[in-house]
Amino acid sequence: MKGIELKTAAQIAKLREANLVVADVLDAIAAAATVGTSTWDLEIVARRRLKELAAEPAFLGYRGYPAVLCASVNNVIVHGIPRRDVVLKDGDILSVDFGAFKNGWCGDSARTLLIGRVSEKAAALVEATRISLERAIEQCVPGNRLGDVGWAVQSYVEKRGYSVVEQFSGHGIGRHMHEPPQVMNYGPPGRGPRLSVGMVLAIEPMVNEGGPEAVIEDDGWTAVTKDGSLSAHFEHSVAVTDNGPLVLSRASHG
Ligand code: MF3
Ligand code: CO
Repeated sequence: MKGIELKTAAQIAKLREANLVVADVLDAIAAAATVGTSTWDLEIVARRRLKELAAEPAFLGYRGYPAVLCASVNNVIVHGIPRRDVVLKDGDILSVDFGAFKNGWCGDSARTLLIGRVSEKAAALVEATRISLERAIEQCVPGNRLGDVGWAVQSYVEKRGYSVVEQFSGHGIGRHMHEPPQVMNYGPPGRGPRLSVGMVLAIEPMVNEGGPEAVIEDDGWTAVTKDGSLSAHFEHSVAVTDNGPLVLSRASHG
């Protein structure tokens, strides 16, 4: 259906390996991200851990992207390039987005971290974005439609007064980081391709505290909120199985 490639159980097991690498690297980054750390320091942590795990970066060189990690602070929505002069401060929120290849299969996941003592307002945005992804994951069952996934994100965050960034989306994932279909973070429900066993989707809600508009900075990558408001981002790679959604990029299933 529309070029969406279904993966076998054996292929999903390979995707799980790649995504476990990604989860491990994100754990290392989360442990290192504190007040005074630069986002370039986190790039170095990611490179070192990736090497130890004998995996390859997915972002470095992708359409010319210059790093293995995307590190997006506060009003940066996604695709923040790690920099020595971006130093984490008390109260920041930081999206870390990381992708890797292991044995030819790709993993992709992101989290928004709270740095030091974060305002209740900022923490609420981050928590709502995290839960919107969980709601979207719950929709990943055979027979549902792709619009149900997007609607789960949109309805959850808009009810709380936040807005969904429409300029970027999630994606299918497999041997390539980006495969069909595009996974929008908005509805309508009941529309779009039907989900079936073997589909693997990278779902990645990007949610703004203010308006939904995004602007790309002059580096060609850094996407910021037009109104300067905070933005949060979470991503998981999820397989549709007979037993429901399998979150490949979550370290523990318990
Ligand atoms: N998770 C993002 C995506 O799926 C990260 C890509 S960054 C890039 O598009 F540099 F590789 F494009
Ligand atoms: Co992605």
